[in-house]
Amino acid sequence: MWLPLHTVCLRSRTGCRRSFVAALLKCSRRRDANISHFSHSAGRSAAACKALLYRNHGDPSRVVQLEDADVPPVGAKDVLVKVLAAPINPSDINMIQGTYAILPDLPAVGGNEGVAQVIEVGSQVKSLKAGDWVIPRDAGLGTWRTEAVLAEDDVISLPNDIPLLSAATLGVNPCTAFRMLSDFEDLKPGDSVIQNAANSGVGQAVIQIAAARGINTINVIRDRPEFTQLSDRLKAMGASHVIKEEALRRPEIKELFKTCPKPKLALNGVGGKSATELLRHLQVGGSMVTYGGMSKQPVTVPVSALIFKDVKVRGFWVTQWKRDNSHDERIFRTMLDELCSLIQQGKLTAPACTEVGLQEYGKALDTAMQPFTSTKQVLIM
Ligand SMILES: NC(=O)c1ccc[n+]([C@@H]2O[C@H](COP(=O)([O-])OP(=O)(O)OC[C@H]3O[C@@H](n4cnc5c(N)ncnc54)[C@H](OP(=O)(O)O)[C@@H]3O)[C@@H](O)[C@H]2O)c1
Repeated sequence: MWLPLHTVCLRSRTGCRRSFVAALLKCSRRRDANISHFSHSAGRSAAACKALLYRNHGDPSRVVQLEDADVPPVGAKDVLVKVLAAPINPSDINMIQGTYAILPDLPAVGGNEGVAQVIEVGSQVKSLKAGDWVIPRDAGLGTWRTEAVLAEDDVISLPNDIPLLSAATLGVNPCTAFRMLSDFEDLKPGDSVIQNAANSGVGQAVIQIAAARGINTINVIRDRPEFTQLSDRLKAMGASHVIKEEALRRPEIKELFKTCPKPKLALNGVGGKSATELLRHLQVGGSMVTYGGMSKQPVTVPVSALIFKDVKVRGFWVTQWKRDNSHDERIFRTMLDELCSLIQQGKLTAPACTEVGLQEYGKALDTAMQPFTSTKQVLIM
């Protein structure tokens, strides 16, 4: 989330720090987090991996470096994995900048999402075998590396017959879209959802999951020279309507609601005026769920929306959802199974992605921070 530091810094939450520390510990033969585990070296030992590491918070293109990192021996309850692909998401950038809700101890390996293949399992590992594909269960594993030794419990398996890019980008954005479409309003086929940042990774997953459920989506994007091209792409994946932000404020928007019911649910990944405009079009009693703040502007709720429409203003964070539901693996597993089934049926595709070699990380980080790119940078290890 692109949120200012003062709104999100919860660094003292021990639960949030555990996994980062664990990730660093597991990247080292010596079980203590220490900067000396990462070295610039000309050669590479057999038990070493390449990792994109940062020692200080700051501009990602300045503080992130490709370094050698040790790979520890595989413990009884551990798995050795080879990371196959890992995206660069806004939250990864915010973590490196030091502005995200959870921050690792430094130095840290970047990346929270990605897919890896199990290479070797410890003697007491029950749920995984060599060849399985796995994704992180929680944020903070540090996925921008070639190999890692992880606890069996830190990962969850996926079918390995789905496209690589779908697997690499499944654990955060489609899960967020799935939960927001499931947990806030009782949406039935024919109902409508309105969302901004509709071309984002989350937005593209919302469009496709909603379409699979027979739910209309009204998709708001910022204007750009290639608006028609982007609009056509979103419609091809199931978007019912694609409109420019400015159009939300024009009287002609009333035409749209002659054929499409007013939305029960608004999904806000932007904040600022864009969020206020979504609220104006909600049904009486509907919900707006904020999950991102890409404009870095606060959400302003018109008094009339509260008094005369009794709208519900909510928030969602998938990391918290995963932690709240970590006591019962079946809950996360059921959602992943449903999402993978949609992928296998061709109803849920990965967002538009640009595959980038690990060595090209500098360019990929720069591109990931540019507006109007409409493509997710995915590191291929
Ligand atoms: N709460 C959660 O659990 C959760 C989970 C996943 C993601 N997120 C958050 O959701 C947001 C989107 O993530 P993502 O991975 O889907 O992003 P993404 O694929 O990288 O796409 C970024 C989106 O943000 C838009 N954008 C960028 N700057 C903007 C601005 N100044 N004003 C309006 N729109 C702007 C982009 O539109 P243009 O093409 O017009 O630039 C694009 O639609 C991020 O804030 C992320 O942290 C939250």
